[in-house]
Amino acid sequence: MSAMLEVNNLNKTYKNFKAIDDISFQVNKGDIYGFLGPNGAGKSTTLRMILGLIKPNSGEIKLNGSLINFKNKKYLNNIGALIERPDFYKNLSAYQNLKILYSMSRINNPKIIHDVLHEVDLFDRKDDKVGSYSQGMKQRLGIAQTLLHNPQIIILDEPSNGLDPQGQADMRELILRINKDKGITVIISSHILAEIEKIANRMIVINKGKKIIEGDVGQLMSSESIKLSVKTTSNKEIENFFNSRDIIYESNEGIYTISWPEKNIDQLVKELQNDNISIFEIKQLKTLEEYFLNLTN
Ligand SMILES: Nc1ncnc2c1ncn2[C@@H]1O[C@H](COP(=O)(O)OP(=O)(O)OP(=O)(O)O)[C@@H](O)[C@H]1O
Ligand SMILES: [Mg+2]
Repeated sequence: MSAMLEVNNLNKTYKNFKAIDDISFQVNKGDIYGFLGPNGAGKSTTLRMILGLIKPNSGEIKLNGSLINFKNKKYLNNIGALIERPDFYKNLSAYQNLKILYSMSRINNPKIIHDVLHEVDLFDRKDDKVGSYSQGMKQRLGIAQTLLHNPQIIILDEPSNGLDPQGQADMRELILRINKDKGITVIISSHILAEIEKIANRMIVINKGKKIIEGDVGQLMSSESIKLSVKTTSNKEIENFFNSRDIIYESNEGIYTISWPEKNIDQLVKELQNDNISIFEIKQLKTLEEYFLNLTN
């Protein structure tokens, strides 16, 4: 499988705060790639770095095998993006809005405006003012905008935010259609596992700027006993315990999540007790869903 987008060891620090901590992942041609993480995980920051809107501290990004040169924005001709809510002129029609974006770009394909309006099912409403549009219609117009320059890949940052269940279903159907019919690779972010599960074939889970896991959605959803969670008030002690054994952990309000290869957790309990670390609860997280809920409470 060939990589369309490759991100290697990306880092972003704001003052002393590490927003993105050594994240690497690969999006293959034709993927609908889910970018999953709770609020503040670093989804938007990562996607903005790919789009050259934020400068990483270190790391590299490759598009179709070539290193992205952030000074030369030419690579953006291959990428469409919907970051945050789309911003359109409310007192102009959908068609007029797209016409403005079209004329600001270097595209020479006047037919494309009608094509993308058909694609997102807004052609019949193209002359209505955007101010009269529902949230779902505005989001679909946002998708139309990403398609104007015929990109190979589109990046959608939480496109279902603020939509009701029907709007979310319409959005999913639209994204699947664009991916299938036009062969466009899609990166879609969300903080809701169920949403990613319904649409993506591969995904990454990030939390607090770090990559947790990446892989095939079906496999990740069915994999068993991937993690253990340990609940304690001895936070310092347990962190020392993990660090001294090179066990990587995630923490969330006294709940620590670790990878534990053994089915048998007796050994871990014994060692924790030897170190006088009080445990209130220890749980096997059998599914990605349980694991993700643990991260997000
Ligand atoms: N300009 C900035 N200055 C300082 N900190 C920032 C800045 N932008 C983002 N952050 C911090 O970086 C972290 C990641 O933010 P980001 O917006 O990427 O998260 P997210 O996964 O998109 O979250 P959400 O689901 O809420 O959209 C957060 O802790 C945020 O407060
Ligand atoms: Mg965000």
